[in-house]
Amino acid sequence: MTFAHPIEQLIKQRFSCRSYLNQPVEEQTRLRLADYAASLQTGPFGARMRFELVAAREDDQKALKNLGTYGFIKGATGFIIGVMRDDEKNLEDFGYLMESIILFATEIGLGTCWLGGTFTKSSFSERVSPRPGELIPAVSSVGYCAKKPRRLGTLIRNRAGADRRLSWEKLFFDSRFGVPLSRKAAGDYATALEMVRWGPSASNKQPWRVVKNRNIWHFYLQRTPGYRQQWLVKLFTVADMQRIDMGIAMCHFELIAREHGLDGHWEIIAPDIEKSEELTEYTVSWVG
Ligand SMILES: Cc1cc2nc3c(=O)[nH]c(=O)nc-3n(C[C@H](O)[C@H](O)[C@H](O)COP(=O)(O)O)c2cc1C
Repeated sequence: MTFAHPIEQLIKQRFSCRSYLNQPVEEQTRLRLADYAASLQTGPFGARMRFELVAAREDDQKALKNLGTYGFIKGATGFIIGVMRDDEKNLEDFGYLMESIILFATEIGLGTCWLGGTFTKSSFSERVSPRPGELIPAVSSVGYCAKKPRRLGTLIRNRAGADRRLSWEKLFFDSRFGVPLSRKAAGDYATALEMVRWGPSASNKQPWRVVKNRNIWHFYLQRTPGYRQQWLVKLFTVADMQRIDMGIAMCHFELIAREHGLDGHWEIIAPDIEKSEELTEYTVSWVG
């Protein structure tokens, strides 16, 4: 993954764009995004998947026929559709790779919005002909973002608390849960953590937690109680969104670490750290 702009800038620039200009994405830009999306096939855990861009062209605006978003997204002229198999840690890999496509789209001037629930599953499925056992856990709308967010967009933004993120103290810990990590103690990794905090997450629940142990960074999923049982979530989503959120956090962390010249790799090492709450699940560690 190589980007022309500083990753921090792209992460800060991205937001959930729910209203687009009625103008197909220009051919050159469309091809660059389609090529980038198609080039990503395996995430850090090795799960295999594929991503396709379906987008309207100047001469064919019907490309998106039947691709619906239940009215949540207005005027998107394209969608990135990802299909994954039933592999171990597939949702984390999905989040990781899709987020890197979203940052690439941001870099080339496009607006995006992650959609884990509000997309018409069967019509999207028809476009990418999934094989038996394959699933589309989420898609992203793309297009030129309209300057003025429409009312519904504004409403959702406020309700989901898009401009609100949990404080650093609630997300990052020193050696064990309950001991907040200071920015100073985070050292060279402070920006990588801050960019985890800036990540998008389903319903803005921000379920990622990181515990530092010397130069190892343990990533935990702090599940939102009852989230998957909520009727709207149950009705609309097909996959475990919070595992996708975790992959997004890994993507931001690794991109910033690499950009800052901090070498490391992902490893599942089951650390001996007492979990703070019942719904805390260990995912992976970045070994620096
Ligand atoms: C996995 C995932 C699924 C999401 N699903 C939806 C969705 O179905 N509909 C929607 O309007 N927004 C969806 N979002 C967008 C979040 O609501 C949004 O990222 C969050 O509120 C933070 O706002 P921001 O993206 O503007 O920073 C999803 C985000 C993620 C990461």
